Amino acid sequence: MHHLQCILQAQRCLGWGPLTSVSWLLLRTCRAHSSFSGTTCPSPEGQQEDGVRKDFSSRLATGPTFQHFLRSASVPQEKLASSDVVDPPPYLTVDELLGRQRKVYLETYGCQMNVNDTEIAWSILQKSGYLRTSNLQEADVILLVTCSIREKAEQTIWNRLHQLKALKTKRLRSRVPLKIGILGCMAERLKEEILNREKMVDILAGPDAYRDLPRLLTVAESGQQAANVLLSLDETYADVMPVQTSPSATSAFVSIMRGCDNMCSYCIVPFTRGRERSRPVASILEEVRKLSEQGLKEVTLLGQNVNSYRDNSEVQFNNAVSTNLSRGFSTNYKTKQGGLRFAHLLDQVSRIDPEMRIRFTSPHPKDFPDEVLQLIHERDNICKQIHLPAQSGSSRVLEAMRRGYSREAYVELIHHIREFIPGVSLSSDFIAGFCGETEEDHLQTVSLLREVQYNMGFLFAYSMRQKTRAYHRLKDDVLEEVKLRRLEELITVFREEATKANKTSVGCTQLVLVEGFSKRSATELCGRNDGNLKVIFPDVEMEDATDSELRVRAQPGDYVLVKITSASSQTLRGHVLCRTTLKDSSAYCSP
Ligand code: 5AD
Ligand code: SF4
Repeated sequence: MHHLQCILQAQRCLGWGPLTSVSWLLLRTCRAHSSFSGTTCPSPEGQQEDGVRKDFSSRLATGPTFQHFLRSASVPQEKLASSDVVDPPPYLTVDELLGRQRKVYLETYGCQMNVNDTEIAWSILQKSGYLRTSNLQEADVILLVTCSIREKAEQTIWNRLHQLKALKTKRLRSRVPLKIGILGCMAERLKEEILNREKMVDILAGPDAYRDLPRLLTVAESGQQAANVLLSLDETYADVMPVQTSPSATSAFVSIMRGCDNMCSYCIVPFTRGRERSRPVASILEEVRKLSEQGLKEVTLLGQNVNSYRDNSEVQFNNAVSTNLSRGFSTNYKTKQGGLRFAHLLDQVSRIDPEMRIRFTSPHPKDFPDEVLQLIHERDNICKQIHLPAQSGSSRVLEAMRRGYSREAYVELIHHIREFIPGVSLSSDFIAGFCGETEEDHLQTVSLLREVQYNMGFLFAYSMRQKTRAYHRLKDDVLEEVKLRRLEELITVFREEATKANKTSVGCTQLVLVEGFSKRSATELCGRNDGNLKVIFPDVEMEDATDSELRVRAQPGDYVLVKITSASSQTLRGHVLCRTTLKDSSAYCSP
């Protein structure tokens, strides 16, 4: 019998109850194998064990029980908060948990949360003595931070694993065999299926298990597979400051919450990233302050439902004030109460540095109370840019998606936002070909794209995901070619409308944060306007607004005023007028 099944059966026999919020934790070791089924599982690498490793294996054999892993995996947040790495388990010494300068190569797939998680994972490994490499060939450990949102995202990872197989085989006889790990959403979704399908994978770590990486890698070093895919109710990695890897960067992402309670019927995220939880305000402010001191000019607050933020960590804030939802919007969960909300956080973050732009992504349209809109309107450094994922323009499809709003409520919200924040830049996500979507529903989405005229859009063909409500209750009945045709139509309409929307900027003067040279030309610079649209302009000398005698060339991190001369669906072009500051610019800028 498969040893994992043995563990799970043993768990049942011993009467361990299900753990609240716990998906499960698996430690795939020879010990587990031998004690349950009487067999051993030396890997090819294990055959070249030296004395040290043998000793390690024998300690593993007399080491922890399965219960130990369940216990250590549910260590409360307060205990973890004092250090990035959990205390060594009794069967491993601190020394064994150290990376001993082994080189880690990290590769990221999927959303911005994954980019941030990559830096969290790296921060934890760095403290444990690992080095980072950007050269795949010299890596001792390759970690893929994965995405499960659509079938295609997972297929990319399987293909990558096949490529890595050759690299691993080449290294089988080396003194330091190559270890491969799958991190993030795909590890969480597929669990041991990955270990079974790809024997070359040594470790699995779900999105809430990155603190456990040093231990998982140590176990893997002894030639055994190891996994932790436990989801947590409170892990926010609040105390793990991601390492700022690019010293020339002008902007950074700051994770403020994790997980999702919305349960939209198409979405795998609640199953891969677990329940919604927010990082305490104080630790977010500390990170933003540090980034400001490092000279960064832009911070994007990050979370799966960033504006559902609710810091319940301080008892005094757990009052009974109930939540203000946008008008006409409802939730799939019981109304939550109390805590410090997104408006409070946004207010505090925007006060840290008036020269630092603040953005946030990805929000849910249900959580836009007027307090948030008011702040965006009145603070110069909060960008007037809102992502409002609609997903569909048909109320019937929205209901099947369990989005908690109708087309009419969504459109009303758009009008309300535009009244509050004139010139606001809007973007959205749409899914083409959801279960039961008719041609009429599709045309409703086309008409919503025309009606709103978004500045940016992210459009996808529906991909059925196991575990979701749609998988259990609905039929994926729109033919693949129909989905793709509808997607193409949405893209075409979106582009036409975005071009029109962006052309309204021609002739205006806009504040641009310079990022560096344009990808296509060494004589042009590239930056972003307040709406997060790319702006390209020639790299020429210009006046400095604070000192008219001074002639300067724009550098990454500078704010410049650019007169817009042309626009497409994705980019603006213009010529630079002068270098300025964010505070001084509002007098000159037209939307
Ligand atoms: N199929 C296609 N697109 C999806 N998205 C989420 N789940 C799916 C799915 N199963 C899209 C939604 C979401 C964005 C991040 O990805 O539009 O807002
Ligand atoms: Fe992909 Fe969603 Fe996970 Fe991000 S949260 S990595 S988009 S599945």
